[in-house]
Amino acid sequence: MAESAAPSLLFVLAAASLLFHVHCGYPLPATARMKLFHDPTMRLRDFKASLDQLGSASPGPPSERSQGTVYDVTSYGADPFGKTDSTAAILSALSDAIKGPSHGSLTAGISNLGGVRINLQGGTYVISRPLQFPSAGVGNIVIHGGTLQASADFPMDGYLIDLSNSNGSMSYYYEFITFRDLLLDANYRGGGILVRNSLRIGIDNCFIAHFSSNGILVQGGHETYVRNSFLGQHITAGSDPGERNFSGIGINLQGNDNAVTDVVIFSAMVGIMVTSQANTFSGVHCYNKATSFGGTGIYLKVPGNTQTRIVNCYMDFTGIVMEDPVQVDITDSFFLGDAYVVLKSINGVAKGVNVVNNLFTGSNKGIDTVQLDVSNGPFKQVDRVVVERNGAVGMNSRLTNARGSTQGNGTRWEVDFSSTLLLPDMISYVQYSLKDDSTGSFPKHALRNVTKNSVVIESEVVVSATVFVMVDQMK
Ligand SMILES: *[C@@H]1O[C@H](CO)[C@@H](O)[C@H](O)[C@H]1NC(C)=O
Ligand SMILES: *[C@@H]1O[C@H](CO)[C@@H](O)[C@H](O)[C@H]1NC(C)=O
Ligand SMILES: *[C@@H]1O[C@H](CO)[C@@H](O)[C@H](O)[C@H]1NC(C)=O
Ligand SMILES: *[C@@H]1O[C@H](CO)[C@@H](O)[C@H](O)[C@H]1NC(C)=O
Repeated sequence: MAESAAPSLLFVLAAASLLFHVHCGYPLPATARMKLFHDPTMRLRDFKASLDQLGSASPGPPSERSQGTVYDVTSYGADPFGKTDSTAAILSALSDAIKGPSHGSLTAGISNLGGVRINLQGGTYVISRPLQFPSAGVGNIVIHGGTLQASADFPMDGYLIDLSNSNGSMSYYYEFITFRDLLLDANYRGGGILVRNSLRIGIDNCFIAHFSSNGILVQGGHETYVRNSFLGQHITAGSDPGERNFSGIGINLQGNDNAVTDVVIFSAMVGIMVTSQANTFSGVHCYNKATSFGGTGIYLKVPGNTQTRIVNCYMDFTGIVMEDPVQVDITDSFFLGDAYVVLKSINGVAKGVNVVNNLFTGSNKGIDTVQLDVSNGPFKQVDRVVVERNGAVGMNSRLTNARGSTQGNGTRWEVDFSSTLLLPDMISYVQYSLKDDSTGSFPKHALRNVTKNSVVIESEVVVSATVFVMVDQMK
């Protein structure tokens, strides 16, 4: 950017900008700055216009052109080369930004700041305490374009960006705050972004690394959308020699109605931990820590009321665990490297679970694609658990419906589905047909037994026949 503008002009602009901040408390209108740099033919005119504005004693109501404002953190003394601590400077830019003119309100109690921007200007800033907004009740703010790095004494329980507030009286603290194009380096001290009790927060194209707790923690509120982002405790491209030691959680959702879309979690003990309802995951690629090393890709710890959709995700050597799942969709996803899905019994409840249309690939170790963890007791209340139409290569496919056939000359035919059906000793529905292979007679036959997921058909007289059976564990 600097190369494209005349040095003298830049210098004047920088001086003017500083003057503006110090003496007037208002930054240059965003549009004026942008045009100054990007459109050479407009430079002088806009520059003159901005000087005119500088000269006016009190800026009037914001014009159509200056609805948004940009706060450049270097104008507040932040060090874009990361040599000195920039905490106070960035907090003071934040503080000014949220004082900006309000354009009415968003949700009741939240002032609409019109899209004000805090611009990190492509710098790397070292910060020694969380960037917490000085007050709550503000929205329509963008923080973008640079790197934040925790200092060596950053508090271990802190987050680089902290959208929380001690103000217990408000129903929501923040709304429509967007974090875009940021690299957050927690320096193995604390986490990346904390969002508490807020609405419609966007985390977009961020790279969050070196967290010791959580990359992103969402508590309460609703609709934090994490999009097109990359999270990893250690920066690795896979097969890391330290993988067994990965800890922490990529995204920790303790609130409802959030979405994680097109996100990669490349290192952490748990990729996404979910302890609340109605969250949705799509296009998520987890290779955080292999299940064989004790890692979990997505952990749904919402027993009895899960309400989660996992769609079009890529579980790469790390799987999905769901405790007492009630209303969960896992569809159109790809499980690589013997990754599998676990239904973990807490109180033995599994209802409304769909694991369908997924692909599983393994290395012929006989690992089941879907498994039950009954270490706390068996599943006792099972209703509408549908595990079907999954394609498995090199793994043992577990399903809740199956078909099979057997041929024999005698009075008894048995088709054993126990290595295929997911739920033990549970056949709710059977359909069979008996084809007489030899005489064309009409022998009497009947379904005699379905115990232990094995279907037995018997006939009154000896007959050479093929028996075809379809079973379903759903009523
Ligand atoms: C706390 O909430 C009250 C009521 O909404 C508000 O007036 C006050 O400014 C808030 N304080 C902070 C620190 O956000
Ligand atoms: C993992 O951690 C253990 C115990 O802290 C340590 O001894 C070991 O060297 C670590 N392994 C790697 C590969 O970092
Ligand atoms: C079936 O077994 C009976 C004897 O049990 C035998 O008489 C008959 O030929 C056999 N049929 C076929 C097709 O093998
Ligand atoms: C059904 O099969 C089981 C063994 O799988 C057996 O214990 C049971 O007695 C059989 N029931 C009947 C009615 O034959």
